[in-house]
Amino acid sequence: MQDQMQHRELIQSLPKAELHVHIEGTFEPELMFEIAQRNHVDIPYGSVDDLKKAYDFHNLQSFLDIYYAGANVLLHEQDFYHLTYAYFEKCKADNVVHTEIFFDPQTHTDRGVPFETVINGIERACQDAKTNLGISSFLIMCFLRHLSEEAAFETLAQAKPYQDKIIGVGLDSSEVGHPPSKFERVFSEAKAQGYLIVAHAGEEGPPEYIWEALDLLKVNRIDHGVRCEEDEQLMARLIAEKMPLTVCPLSNLKLCVIDDMQQHNIKRLLDQGVNVMVNSDDPAYFGGYMNDNFYAITDALDLSSQDIRQLASNSFQASFLPESEKTEWMQKVVNS
Ligand code: ADE
Ligand code: ZN
Repeated sequence: MQDQMQHRELIQSLPKAELHVHIEGTFEPELMFEIAQRNHVDIPYGSVDDLKKAYDFHNLQSFLDIYYAGANVLLHEQDFYHLTYAYFEKCKADNVVHTEIFFDPQTHTDRGVPFETVINGIERACQDAKTNLGISSFLIMCFLRHLSEEAAFETLAQAKPYQDKIIGVGLDSSEVGHPPSKFERVFSEAKAQGYLIVAHAGEEGPPEYIWEALDLLKVNRIDHGVRCEEDEQLMARLIAEKMPLTVCPLSNLKLCVIDDMQQHNIKRLLDQGVNVMVNSDDPAYFGGYMNDNFYAITDALDLSSQDIRQLASNSFQASFLPESEKTEWMQKVVNS
């Protein structure tokens, strides 16, 4: 009990970076209802409580269906601003000092919301968060993998005028049946244009998808990647290359990638020298933000304070911050 209290205080006090969070997945039901009312958009749930009751997922797709429906109420620049600024307030509460935020342009442009509306609202919140809350951030634009290669190319073209606001390109949505190889050419073009590269792989999909993300998309980080343990050679490669895996424990539990938090492999991966860190993925849907994820794994897997510090340190090491800033934050993790 004493240990648990001390671990919670340590988790709260450590500076942390978040590298895997979908801004549309931070949409709290209360804000969703508020924006829906303001925009005269119907939500097929009578109340916040009714909506929350629907958050009972059995796999990734059952979640994505609700997540895309929720995003439908976002229409105007100020909606994207409010959504994003609300996430930064959660970061502040958890001492997340830097965040690399995913957004899904196609979820909005396919409904007729201009790319410009989405990026301007999110980006203005990022600037205000830096000024008011002291939190730094980068934006990563994700292609929806259930859509076509051609649609991803279109999105890449739409992003061109805003490239200075977007550090990287990612790949998300329904994994199984949509391997990274489907997007090899568009990622090659994105890399040539100067974007950093990440991709969801090995969340529900097999280790082969992680190999493809590495070899075909040439990723700088793997998002999730927890199924890597099924392939010994892959494990050796991830360790040798210090390839970051942006692990999301509460997400894995809520989407039934694991049945119980005690089954989570983040501690085993950490012990074997894989570059893992903690992230919240879609915190409004999965029951918690950064620190809740830390508490859940610390309790279930009996993490030591050294493990906790290592995870916080890895979050900066694997970030896209300049080396000097990484080092500064990692030093602060040691001294906190
Ligand atoms: N989009 C939002 N959350 C996601 C996840 N966990 N996996 C794939 N796509 C997503
Ligand atoms: Zn994700």
